Amino acid sequence: MRIDIITVLPELLRSPFEASILKRAIEKGLVEVHFHNLRDYTDHSYNQVDDYQFGGGAGMVLMIEPIDRCISALKSGREYDEVIYMTPDGKTLNQKMANGLSLLKNVIVLCGHYKGVDQRVRDTMITKEISIGDYVLSGGELGAAVLCDAIIRLIPGVLNNETSALTDTFQDNLLAPPVYTRPSDYKGMKVPEVLLSGNFPKIERWREEEALKRTENLRPDLLE
Ligand code: ADE
Repeated sequence: MRIDIITVLPELLRSPFEASILKRAIEKGLVEVHFHNLRDYTDHSYNQVDDYQFGGGAGMVLMIEPIDRCISALKSGREYDEVIYMTPDGKTLNQKMANGLSLLKNVIVLCGHYKGVDQRVRDTMITKEISIGDYVLSGGELGAAVLCDAIIRLIPGVLNNETSALTDTFQDNLLAPPVYTRPSDYKGMKVPEVLLSGNFPKIERWREEEALKRTENLRPDLLE
């Protein structure tokens, strides 16, 4: 998979890809992530990429021209499955969307800023609009990092134990069951006996029951 991220703040985006699972996925060649600074695609003085809104109103808007140039340059090199725009009024990201996106080959992610982008970008160049939740961030960069993390860990081979993504919370509309590690008794707080029993069918049943209980308690909406 290849992800091209278009941003005015590439420095805000680098570190999530320089550690742990995402770093390893890149090193293993399972995903390529490229950053494109929108300011490299403008002819305006001072590398200006934003301007005042027509009709008045507070806040700057990212201009269509540098975005068009950047997306066109990328598209001249390969075909893209999706051109995603990170915005609080997009569809809220969930595990099902992440699963679908993890199967794609080439994806562009455009990070919004200020008051957003010229509507003509959204009307003509964007194929999917994604929000990471009902709150407003200063820009789309952190949202893009969240999106990329959610997608990249699902690419086959990225997680050491591939089944571990399959047992994630949300993967089957259930929260994950409780987990424990050593010691089995800490200051009198004991690990459930069944987990020490070695009876794997019984452990599996226990996990299913606990997952259901936890979902009923914490996220009953997932069961509706
Ligand atoms: N940009 C600003 N807020 C955002 C959000 N909640 N999700 C995605 N991109 C955003």
